[in-house]
Amino acid sequence: MEWLRIVVLFSTLAIHVSWGLESTTGSLPELSQLSRELLDSAREPEFFDWLRKVRRKIHENPELAFEEDETSQFIRSELDLLGIEYTWPVAKTGVVASIGSGLQPWFALRADMDALPIQELVEWEHKSKNPGKMHACGHDVHVTMLLGAAKLLQLKSKQLKGTVKLVFQPAEEGHAGAYHMLKEVALDGIQGIFGLHVSPEMQTGSIGSRPGPFLAGAGRFLVTVQGKGGHAAAPHLTADPILAACSVILALQQIVSRETDPLEARVVTVGFVNGGQAANVIPETVELKGTFRSLTLDGIHYLQQRIKEVIEMQASVHQCNATVDFMHEKMRPYPPTVIDEALYVHSKSVSEALVGEANVYLLPMTMGAEDFSFYTHKMPAAMFMIGTTDHTLGSNATSLHSPYLVIDEEVLPIGAALHAAVAISFLDNNTDAAAAHSVIH
Ligand SMILES: *[C@@H]1O[C@H](CO)[C@@H](O)[C@H](O)[C@H]1NC(C)=O
Ligand SMILES: *[C@@H]1O[C@H](CO)[C@@H](O)[C@H](O)[C@H]1NC(C)=O
Ligand SMILES: *[C@@H]1O[C@H](CO)[C@@H](O)[C@H](O)[C@H]1NC(C)=O
Ligand SMILES: [Zn+2]
Ligand SMILES: [Zn+2]
Repeated sequence: MEWLRIVVLFSTLAIHVSWGLESTTGSLPELSQLSRELLDSAREPEFFDWLRKVRRKIHENPELAFEEDETSQFIRSELDLLGIEYTWPVAKTGVVASIGSGLQPWFALRADMDALPIQELVEWEHKSKNPGKMHACGHDVHVTMLLGAAKLLQLKSKQLKGTVKLVFQPAEEGHAGAYHMLKEVALDGIQGIFGLHVSPEMQTGSIGSRPGPFLAGAGRFLVTVQGKGGHAAAPHLTADPILAACSVILALQQIVSRETDPLEARVVTVGFVNGGQAANVIPETVELKGTFRSLTLDGIHYLQQRIKEVIEMQASVHQCNATVDFMHEKMRPYPPTVIDEALYVHSKSVSEALVGEANVYLLPMTMGAEDFSFYTHKMPAAMFMIGTTDHTLGSNATSLHSPYLVIDEEVLPIGAALHAAVAISFLDNNTDAAAAHSVIH
């Protein structure tokens, strides 16, 4: 996931409240008992040690998008040890495991596996061993929590009222791994998918999300403004791409300020400019790169169309040409992440049963993006954020994608239990839906 900031939680007193299991919803005694049981199992010393070992091993060996070969191999070896069947390879390194009867309903849990091209700057025993690569978005934690859930679910596999699919996907960071997973495996029969993302800005033991649009859709654009170079003293014999690029950058600002409903959130940012070598030379070309974001699919389509028009026309005003590349093949734009209302309510009840109502938050929307969004447009889907910083121990909250990211490993059993509890209770609650489904097919 890109840039996410949930500042709101820092000022909340409730985050310091103990997050033990004393607080239960009462009206859902079965759910409370299930959650308690799962969390207790995951916190047993042997189980917890295993979770820590798994996480540290993955953390030490970060691999970039679509290169998660060893991570995938490690996941498969752990699934083999647990006696869980899986399909592999899906989208190069992806793994889809299956626990339960094989019958409907099917419910999916998702974890992403890739790391970032960042040099880790935290000095600790399990620091990244791959120079220039780091699990700075917590995907090592996501994989571990899902393997933890696999172990918990396997212990209960005979009692599962349906099937849980564990989706380990590659390439969340910019390369749309989720899109490629959906293209390659039929996740058609799945009635719901749940994903967790760590949040270093939230206290360990707190959980949150929001129904409806939660994260932005996002795309990139690469621009080459082609002019005609020459001597700076004779501008009339040139077509100046620097001037054209400046006009392009200024004109792009007006798409949001003049063409967008002020009550709608959209972003157009140019974050890269490159062109020219000398003070007295007009260059041939200038390159620009940028990002555009919106909380709706219509917004994404509109921005993309207008960005292309504005760039090409502004270039032509200056007698230059421009090409605009939206990188559809390599870094496909992400749609917005839209959380299913019913699955949100379900996952929220389970979260409350697990960590207590006071520790479950309605989070604000942000303009960060996440490829979990591809699932949200194919099936009922919910992504929840889970806190990974213990403010009471004075540990520093950093942000995702920071070379200083530190994770409070107490999150591991909580995340594993949450995954498992959401899935089990979904199957328990949807056996009727399953019957309907089998009639339809
Ligand atoms: C722009 O493209 C047109 C048509 O291909 C061409 O005639 C013209 O020379 C180009 N201008 C520049 C500055 O490259
Ligand atoms: C399961 O269904 C029951 C009955 O409709 C409902 O009260 C309960 O909240 C549901 N549980 C969850 C976790 O959604
Ligand atoms: C938190 O950050 C401060 C300032 O950067 C540093 O001095 C301190 O050691 C950090 N504390 C922890 C627990 O990492
Ligand atoms: Zn990320
Ligand atoms: Zn992420």
